Amino acid sequence: MYKLLKLLAVLSLWPVMAQAQAPAWNEIRGELKVALETKGDATRGEAAFEQCQGCHRKDASGRVSGAYPRLAGQHATVLMKQIADIRAGRRNNPKMEPFIDDHVLTPFEISDLAVYLQALPISPENGKGPGTGMGKGKQLYDKDCAQCHGAQGEGDAAKFYPMVAAQHYRYLLREVQLIRDGDRRNSNPDMVKAIKPYTVLEMEAVADYMSHFVPPKK
Ligand code: HEC
Ligand code: HEC
Repeated sequence: MYKLLKLLAVLSLWPVMAQAQAPAWNEIRGELKVALETKGDATRGEAAFEQCQGCHRKDASGRVSGAYPRLAGQHATVLMKQIADIRAGRRNNPKMEPFIDDHVLTPFEISDLAVYLQALPISPENGKGPGTGMGKGKQLYDKDCAQCHGAQGEGDAAKFYPMVAAQHYRYLLREVQLIRDGDRRNSNPDMVKAIKPYTVLEMEAVADYMSHFVPPKK
């Protein structure tokens, strides 16, 4: 009986213990640390980007269909974190894995790619939402999202908050859903909490609104 109680006590503590051991969503360690500490080289980044163009396109504008996100103009810190997280399995991306795994890219090249991509001009021709959710979308965005992603969707490089302005509607919508359902495991937990109660209509509205931001001038 005592043994059973002890087992139950351990089991009930398990989630707490597991949580305590899991690194924070934004912990700077491993290859993210190396990439951040490396001075990236845009010329080398341009060469490394050749193997990415088939999906993300030559100008890194992605696809209007949302199948592939725009990378051009995204904060270098965000790009480095996302690539490192995908490589570490914290974010699923089976299509891309063969092109970015550690046989193909070094942490130094992650830095080169990020520096190159951040400096590329942002196309204003992104895939936009239908425009029917703008009022509701603005209401939700200003309440739940603007404090991190910025009033105009500009994000925050220092905090790894992505620029969502001029990103493709269908990609934004897919990511919001993955975040809500816990399938994008590298996400800021405060964001997950904010999106958790969203209905499909609310996710569509907020993605619609985000997709209509004018890209920030650099
Ligand atoms: C076979 C297609 C394919 C190739 C090649 C590819 N990617 Fe991707 N990439 C994707 C897909 C699909 C996603 C979006 C996954 C999702 O929906 O979450 C993505 C997402 C990303 C993201 C995350 C963007 C964000 O806003 O969070 C980065 C960064 C990225 N790719 C960089 C690269 C780089 C750098 C290369 C080349 C070394 C590359 N990709 C090659 C398919 C590809
Ligand atoms: C506490 C800060 C915070 C809040 C609040 C927040 N986010 Fe985020 N968001 C982040 C961070 C950090 C990431 C990148 C997470 C990661 O590393 O995967 C992100 C990523 C995203 C992405 C994926 C972007 C990409 O390029 O892949 C979308 C879409 C998004 N957030 C939408 C929203 C929406 C919609 C809301 C409001 C309902 C919201 N976020 C609220 C911090 C926040």
